[in-house]
Amino acid sequence: MAVEVAGERVLLTRREGRIYAVVNRCPHMGLKMTKGKLREGVIECPWHGSRFDMCTGANLDWVHRLPFMPLPAWSHKLIAMGKKPAPLTTLPVQERDGQVLVGAAI
Ligand code: FES
Repeated sequence: MAVEVAGERVLLTRREGRIYAVVNRCPHMGLKMTKGKLREGVIECPWHGSRFDMCTGANLDWVHRLPFMPLPAWSHKLIAMGKKPAPLTTLPVQERDGQVLVGAAI
């Protein structure tokens, strides 16, 4: 689920009963990942295919395709544009009285 928290775009997911939040900005180019595929706690960026663990933010696979088109391995560094693999920014989350609280102030 994509939401906005204090002006920041955030993605929320529930995994094994717990809610996790990450900033909705891919560390590759800062683009929104709202339309990324989410499968078993892993989100794939819709732009260049980087994959991230939604619970920890860890990068699992770095840039390797264009939208709707895989690319040969030799081109991956070109598409990365000099950016090194980086994690998503995670945010603290609490569930309290049926509400989800997100951000550094909790
Ligand atoms: S913007 Fe996400 S992988 Fe490029």
